[in-house]
Amino acid sequence: MTDTRRAHSFNAAAAQYAAARPSYPPALFDTVEALSGRPLRGAAVVDVGAGTGIAAARLHARGARLLAVEPGAGMAAEFRRQLPGVPVVRGDGNALPLASGSADLLTFAQSWHWTEPARALPEALRVLRPGGTLALWWNVLDHRVGWVAAQGARLAAHFGAHAGAHGTPERVRAEAGAAEFTHHRVPWSRRISVDTHLANLGSHSLLLVAGEESRASFLTAERAALLRDFPDGTLDEPYVVDLLVTRRPNGN
Ligand SMILES: C[S@@+](CC[C@H](N)C(=O)[O-])C[C@H]1O[C@@H](n2cnc3c(N)ncnc32)[C@H](O)[C@@H]1O
Repeated sequence: MTDTRRAHSFNAAAAQYAAARPSYPPALFDTVEALSGRPLRGAAVVDVGAGTGIAAARLHARGARLLAVEPGAGMAAEFRRQLPGVPVVRGDGNALPLASGSADLLTFAQSWHWTEPARALPEALRVLRPGGTLALWWNVLDHRVGWVAAQGARLAAHFGAHAGAHGTPERVRAEAGAAEFTHHRVPWSRRISVDTHLANLGSHSLLLVAGEESRASFLTAERAALLRDFPDGTLDEPYVVDLLVTRRPNGN
């Protein structure tokens, strides 16, 4: 399984992705504003790996002057359907098609782990103005909650890996070289149907690249397991947003 194949697996499932993936809580954007020392309103923000526009929609709603960058054709097309008023350009985090010193804030919402940090970090710092902020974040299901831990074990047993195993804070920092990231945790949850939860699960690259039969058999068994735990057909998906932030030093 190549990372490239997983990174592009989202394109075929872009509509499902847009419908089922969780958004991000207002507290996350409050934290980004506090750490960057300026409001989002009026800020020049570039959302990289923007996908179908889930983070971009929130940044746009808070008044950012937003530009989206997305490498995948399917995701970029869905982005245009979701946010027709926001410009999106094709490109990726390793080589941004943007002028140096042009952004107040660069965001990577669940996309930094698809980049090569040795290339993406200098690129991000180049595109930021001095004093500008780079913010990376991931919604991570809270495995301290019993049913989430049990589902993690079932995923590992079926696929041999865990669906949520992506850019951990430790990994970001280990690959950051001289840049210093601070780590912040923002807890939140959403109440949804078991079917929306399963559609969300099915939109993860681990399941997207599994064979149709393997994916379908897992989701059928998982539906039965969840309905035993949640007979009314709804559940709380508990999340912690892992947020990592660094600033381009002033004066360089
Ligand atoms: C998990 S999705 C996140 C989408 C969106 N930011 C959100 O919050 O819903 C990951 C996105 O990263 C994109 N991607 C893949 N490789 C990338 C790269 N090298 N640089 C930037 N984005 C990349 C994928 O096409 C996909 O749209």
